[in-house]
Amino acid sequence: MGKLDGKVAVITGGTTGMALAGAKLFVDEGAHVFLTGRRQDALDEAVKQIGRNVTGVQGDAGDLDDLDRLYDTVKREKGSLDVLWASAGVGAPAPLGEITEAHFHDAFWLNARGTLFTVQKALPLLNDGGSILMTGSNASLGAFPGWSVYAGSKAVQQAWARVWLNELKERRIRVNVLTPGQVATAKQAELFDEATKRQFESLIPRGAKGRPEEIATAALFLASDDSSYVNGMELVADGGTTAI
Ligand SMILES: NC(=O)c1ccc[n+]([C@@H]2O[C@H](COP(=O)([O-])OP(=O)(O)OC[C@H]3O[C@@H](n4cnc5c(N)ncnc54)[C@H](OP(=O)(O)O)[C@@H]3O)[C@@H](O)[C@H]2O)c1
Repeated sequence: MGKLDGKVAVITGGTTGMALAGAKLFVDEGAHVFLTGRRQDALDEAVKQIGRNVTGVQGDAGDLDDLDRLYDTVKREKGSLDVLWASAGVGAPAPLGEITEAHFHDAFWLNARGTLFTVQKALPLLNDGGSILMTGSNASLGAFPGWSVYAGSKAVQQAWARVWLNELKERRIRVNVLTPGQVATAKQAELFDEATKRQFESLIPRGAKGRPEEIATAALFLASDDSSYVNGMELVADGGTTAI
Protein backbone atom coordinates (compact mmCIF):
# COMPACT_ATOMS: atom_id res chain seq x y z
CA MET A 1 0.00 0.00 0.00
CA GLY A 2 1.32 3.44 -0.95
CA LYS A 3 1.56 6.36 1.45
CA LEU A 4 -0.52 8.52 -0.92
CA ASP A 5 -2.95 5.95 -2.30
CA GLY A 6 -5.95 7.66 -3.90
CA LYS A 7 -4.66 11.16 -3.12
CA VAL A 8 -4.56 14.04 -5.57
CA ALA A 9 -1.53 16.33 -5.42
CA VAL A 10 -0.54 19.60 -7.11
CA ILE A 11 3.16 20.42 -7.43
CA THR A 12 4.13 23.78 -8.90
CA GLY A 13 7.46 24.21 -10.67
CA GLY A 14 7.93 20.49 -10.96
CA THR A 15 9.39 19.77 -14.37
CA THR A 16 13.00 19.51 -13.13
CA GLY A 17 14.94 19.34 -9.90
CA MET A 18 13.68 18.28 -6.51
CA ALA A 19 9.98 18.79 -7.27
CA LEU A 20 10.23 16.45 -10.25
CA ALA A 21 11.87 13.85 -8.00
CA GLY A 22 9.00 14.43 -5.58
CA ALA A 23 6.38 14.05 -8.30
CA LYS A 24 7.85 10.68 -9.29
CA LEU A 25 7.85 9.52 -5.67
CA PHE A 26 4.29 10.75 -5.03
CA VAL A 27 3.07 8.79 -8.08
CA ASP A 28 5.00 5.70 -6.95
CA GLU A 29 3.21 6.06 -3.60
CA GLY A 30 -0.20 6.06 -5.23
CA ALA A 31 -1.03 9.72 -5.92
CA HIS A 32 -2.26 11.40 -9.07
CA VAL A 33 -0.06 14.47 -9.57
CA PHE A 34 -0.81 17.73 -11.37
CA LEU A 35 2.53 19.22 -12.35
CA THR A 36 3.29 22.77 -13.55
CA GLY A 37 6.09 24.64 -15.25
CA ARG A 38 6.36 27.47 -17.75
CA ARG A 39 8.16 25.63 -20.59
CA GLN A 40 5.81 23.30 -22.44
CA ASP A 41 8.66 21.12 -23.75
CA ALA A 42 10.11 20.55 -20.26
CA LEU A 43 6.63 19.80 -18.96
CA ASP A 44 5.99 17.27 -21.73
CA GLU A 45 9.32 15.60 -20.99
CA ALA A 46 8.55 15.41 -17.24
CA VAL A 47 5.11 13.92 -17.88
CA LYS A 48 6.71 11.37 -20.20
CA GLN A 49 9.34 10.47 -17.58
CA ILE A 50 6.73 9.96 -14.88
CA GLY A 51 4.62 7.98 -17.32
CA ARG A 52 1.33 7.48 -15.45
CA ASN A 53 -1.06 9.21 -13.06
CA VAL A 54 0.25 12.65 -13.95
CA THR A 55 -1.29 15.69 -15.65
CA GLY A 56 0.91 18.51 -16.91
CA VAL A 57 -0.59 22.00 -16.76
CA GLN A 58 1.61 24.65 -18.36
CA GLY A 59 1.70 27.91 -16.44
CA ASP A 60 3.57 30.45 -14.35
CA ALA A 61 3.07 30.01 -10.60
CA GLY A 62 3.21 33.77 -10.20
CA ASP A 63 0.47 34.45 -12.73
CA LEU A 64 -2.97 34.50 -11.14
CA ASP A 65 -4.81 33.61 -14.37
CA ASP A 66 -2.50 30.61 -14.86
CA LEU A 67 -3.23 29.52 -11.28
CA ASP A 68 -6.97 29.73 -11.98
CA ARG A 69 -6.47 27.59 -15.07
CA LEU A 70 -4.48 25.06 -13.03
CA TYR A 71 -7.18 24.68 -10.41
CA ASP A 72 -9.95 24.63 -13.03
CA THR A 73 -8.16 21.64 -14.55
CA VAL A 74 -7.85 19.88 -11.18
CA LYS A 75 -11.54 20.52 -10.48
CA ARG A 76 -12.62 19.26 -13.88
CA GLU A 77 -10.45 16.12 -13.81
CA LYS A 78 -10.46 15.10 -10.13
CA GLY A 79 -12.95 17.32 -8.29
CA SER A 80 -10.74 17.99 -5.27
CA LEU A 81 -7.22 18.02 -3.91
CA ASP A 82 -5.39 16.47 -0.93
CA VAL A 83 -1.81 17.71 -1.17
CA LEU A 84 -0.44 21.03 -2.39
CA TRP A 85 3.31 21.44 -2.76
CA ALA A 86 4.08 25.04 -3.75
CA SER A 87 7.64 24.56 -4.94
CA ALA A 88 8.15 27.10 -7.75
CA GLY A 89 10.72 29.68 -6.71
CA VAL A 90 13.55 31.80 -8.06
CA GLY A 91 16.72 33.25 -6.61
CA ALA A 92 19.72 35.22 -7.74
CA PRO A 93 22.43 36.81 -5.61
CA ALA A 94 22.96 40.55 -5.10
CA PRO A 95 24.74 42.06 -2.10
CA LEU A 96 23.30 45.03 -0.25
CA GLY A 97 24.37 48.06 -2.26
CA GLU A 98 23.76 46.31 -5.59
CA ILE A 99 20.13 45.27 -5.15
CA THR A 100 17.93 46.59 -7.96
CA GLU A 101 14.19 47.05 -8.04
CA ALA A 102 13.96 44.30 -10.70
CA HIS A 103 15.94 41.90 -8.50
CA PHE A 104 13.65 42.58 -5.54
CA HIS A 105 10.54 42.34 -7.70
CA ASP A 106 11.46 39.00 -9.30
CA ALA A 107 12.13 37.25 -5.99
CA PHE A 108 9.12 38.56 -4.09
CA TRP A 109 6.77 38.31 -7.07
CA LEU A 110 7.13 34.55 -7.28
CA ASN A 111 8.48 33.35 -3.93
CA ALA A 112 6.17 35.42 -1.73
CA ARG A 113 3.22 36.65 -3.80
CA GLY A 114 3.06 33.61 -6.11
CA THR A 115 3.28 31.15 -3.22
CA LEU A 116 0.54 32.96 -1.29
CA PHE A 117 -1.89 32.90 -4.21
CA THR A 118 -0.96 29.31 -5.10
CA VAL A 119 -2.15 28.37 -1.61
CA GLN A 120 -5.15 30.69 -1.44
CA LYS A 121 -6.54 29.64 -4.80
CA ALA A 122 -6.22 25.95 -3.85
CA LEU A 123 -8.40 26.31 -0.75
CA PRO A 124 -11.84 25.72 -2.34
CA LEU A 125 -10.56 22.39 -3.70
CA LEU A 126 -8.55 21.21 -0.71
CA ASN A 127 -10.14 18.37 1.19
CA ASP A 128 -10.39 18.46 4.97
CA GLY A 129 -7.30 16.80 6.43
CA GLY A 130 -5.17 17.94 3.48
CA SER A 131 -1.52 18.90 3.56
CA ILE A 132 0.11 22.07 2.25
CA LEU A 133 3.86 22.34 1.94
CA MET A 134 5.91 25.21 0.60
CA THR A 135 9.53 25.10 -0.48
CA GLY A 136 11.61 27.55 1.52
CA SER A 137 15.37 27.82 1.56
CA ASN A 138 18.05 27.57 4.21
CA ALA A 139 19.19 30.96 2.89
CA SER A 140 16.57 32.36 5.26
CA LEU A 141 18.27 30.61 8.21
CA GLY A 142 21.90 31.21 7.39
CA ALA A 143 23.62 34.52 6.75
CA PHE A 144 24.93 33.92 3.28
CA PRO A 145 26.38 37.12 1.78
CA GLY A 146 24.52 38.22 -1.34
CA TRP A 147 21.33 36.32 -0.60
CA SER A 148 19.33 38.77 1.54
CA VAL A 149 16.54 39.39 -0.98
CA TYR A 150 16.07 35.69 -1.72
CA ALA A 151 16.27 34.87 2.01
CA GLY A 152 13.61 37.48 2.81
CA SER A 153 11.31 36.31 0.02
CA LYS A 154 11.41 32.75 1.42
CA ALA A 155 11.33 33.66 5.14
CA VAL A 156 7.71 34.81 4.84
CA GLN A 157 6.64 31.17 4.52
CA GLN A 158 7.53 30.35 8.11
CA ALA A 159 5.20 33.08 9.39
CA TRP A 160 2.46 32.17 6.93
CA ALA A 161 2.52 28.46 7.82
CA ARG A 162 1.77 29.25 11.46
CA VAL A 163 -1.03 31.73 10.78
CA TRP A 164 -2.62 29.64 8.05
CA LEU A 165 -2.70 26.40 10.06
CA ASN A 166 -4.54 28.31 12.75
CA GLU A 167 -6.99 29.72 10.21
CA LEU A 168 -7.48 26.25 8.69
CA LYS A 169 -7.64 24.20 11.88
CA GLU A 170 -11.40 23.50 11.59
CA ARG A 171 -10.61 21.77 8.29
CA ARG A 172 -7.61 19.91 9.79
CA ILE A 173 -5.41 21.17 6.97
CA ARG A 174 -1.75 21.12 7.93
CA VAL A 175 0.74 23.71 6.64
CA ASN A 176 4.49 23.14 6.75
CA VAL A 177 7.64 24.49 5.13
CA LEU A 178 10.22 22.25 3.49
CA THR A 179 13.55 24.02 3.64
CA PRO A 180 16.34 22.62 1.47
CA GLY A 181 19.96 23.58 1.52
CA GLN A 182 22.22 23.19 -1.48
CA VAL A 183 20.76 20.57 -3.80
CA ALA A 184 22.33 19.44 -7.06
CA THR A 185 19.80 20.62 -9.65
CA ALA A 186 20.09 21.98 -13.17
CA LYS A 187 19.41 25.47 -11.82
CA GLN A 188 22.37 25.18 -9.46
CA ALA A 189 24.62 24.09 -12.30
CA GLU A 190 23.51 27.13 -14.30
CA LEU A 191 23.79 29.63 -11.44
CA PHE A 192 27.15 28.81 -9.90
CA ASP A 193 30.70 28.35 -11.23
CA GLU A 194 32.90 25.52 -9.91
CA ALA A 195 34.60 27.69 -7.26
CA THR A 196 31.27 28.86 -5.86
CA LYS A 197 29.92 25.29 -5.84
CA ARG A 198 33.01 24.13 -3.89
CA GLN A 199 32.64 27.00 -1.47
CA PHE A 200 29.00 26.10 -0.76
CA GLU A 201 29.92 22.42 -0.40
CA SER A 202 32.55 23.31 2.19
CA LEU A 203 29.68 24.56 4.41
CA ILE A 204 27.88 21.19 4.34
CA PRO A 205 29.03 18.82 7.09
CA ARG A 206 29.17 15.80 4.77
CA GLY A 207 30.93 17.88 2.09
CA ALA A 208 28.45 17.06 -0.65
CA LYS A 209 25.21 18.63 -1.78
CA GLY A 210 21.83 17.08 -1.41
CA ARG A 211 20.27 15.05 -4.18
CA PRO A 212 16.76 15.88 -5.42
CA GLU A 213 15.64 12.43 -4.21
CA GLU A 214 16.68 13.35 -0.65
CA ILE A 215 14.29 16.30 -0.73
CA ALA A 216 11.57 14.18 -2.33
CA THR A 217 11.49 11.80 0.66
CA ALA A 218 11.20 14.75 3.05
CA ALA A 219 8.32 16.10 0.92
CA LEU A 220 6.60 12.71 1.02
CA PHE A 221 6.83 12.76 4.81
CA LEU A 222 5.14 16.18 4.99
CA ALA A 223 2.56 15.30 2.33
CA SER A 224 1.47 12.00 3.87
CA ASP A 225 -0.07 10.87 7.16
CA ASP A 226 3.44 9.98 8.37
CA SER A 227 3.54 13.62 9.51
CA SER A 228 -0.05 13.73 10.80
CA TYR A 229 1.06 15.43 14.06
CA VAL A 230 3.51 17.84 12.39
CA ASN A 231 1.99 21.26 11.72
CA GLY A 232 3.40 24.77 11.29
CA MET A 233 6.91 23.40 11.23
CA GLU A 234 9.94 23.95 9.09
CA LEU A 235 11.65 20.73 8.02
CA VAL A 236 15.22 21.73 7.24
CA ALA A 237 16.91 19.34 4.82
CA ASP A 238 20.33 20.89 4.42
CA GLY A 239 22.65 18.21 5.77
CA GLY A 240 23.18 20.25 8.93
CA THR A 241 24.59 23.32 7.18
CA THR A 242 22.61 25.80 9.24
CA ALA A 243 22.61 23.67 12.40
CA ILE A 244 26.31 24.25 13.03
N1 LIG B 1 18.43 23.96 -5.82
C1 LIG B 1 18.72 24.36 -4.60
O1 LIG B 1 19.83 24.17 -4.12
C2 LIG B 1 17.68 25.02 -3.76
C3 LIG B 1 17.98 25.28 -2.42
C4 LIG B 1 17.01 25.82 -1.59
C5 LIG B 1 15.76 26.10 -2.08
N2 LIG B 1 15.49 25.87 -3.41
C6 LIG B 1 14.13 26.14 -3.86
O2 LIG B 1 13.59 24.91 -4.31
C7 LIG B 1 12.63 25.14 -5.32
C8 LIG B 1 12.97 24.28 -6.53
O3 LIG B 1 14.26 24.58 -6.93
P1 LIG B 1 15.06 23.63 -7.95
O4 LIG B 1 16.49 24.12 -7.91
O5 LIG B 1 14.74 22.23 -7.70
O6 LIG B 1 14.38 23.95 -9.30
P2 LIG B 1 14.61 24.94 -10.53
O7 LIG B 1 15.57 24.27 -11.43
O8 LIG B 1 14.91 26.32 -10.08
O9 LIG B 1 13.17 24.92 -11.17
C9 LIG B 1 12.35 23.78 -11.03
C10 LIG B 1 11.16 23.93 -11.85
O10 LIG B 1 10.43 25.11 -11.55
C11 LIG B 1 9.91 25.62 -12.75
N3 LIG B 1 9.63 27.04 -12.57
C12 LIG B 1 10.51 28.05 -12.40
N4 LIG B 1 9.85 29.21 -12.28
C13 LIG B 1 8.52 28.91 -12.37
C14 LIG B 1 7.34 29.67 -12.33
N5 LIG B 1 7.37 31.01 -12.21
N6 LIG B 1 6.15 29.04 -12.44
C15 LIG B 1 6.10 27.69 -12.60
N7 LIG B 1 7.18 26.92 -12.66
C16 LIG B 1 8.38 27.53 -12.55
C17 LIG B 1 10.98 25.30 -13.79
O11 LIG B 1 10.44 25.15 -15.08
P3 LIG B 1 10.21 26.42 -16.04
O12 LIG B 1 11.50 27.18 -16.05
O13 LIG B 1 9.85 25.81 -17.35
O14 LIG B 1 9.08 27.19 -15.47
C18 LIG B 1 11.47 23.96 -13.31
O15 LIG B 1 10.70 22.93 -13.83
C19 LIG B 1 12.63 26.63 -5.57
O16 LIG B 1 11.61 27.22 -4.80
C20 LIG B 1 13.99 27.07 -5.04
O17 LIG B 1 13.99 28.42 -4.64
C21 LIG B 1 16.41 25.34 -4.25
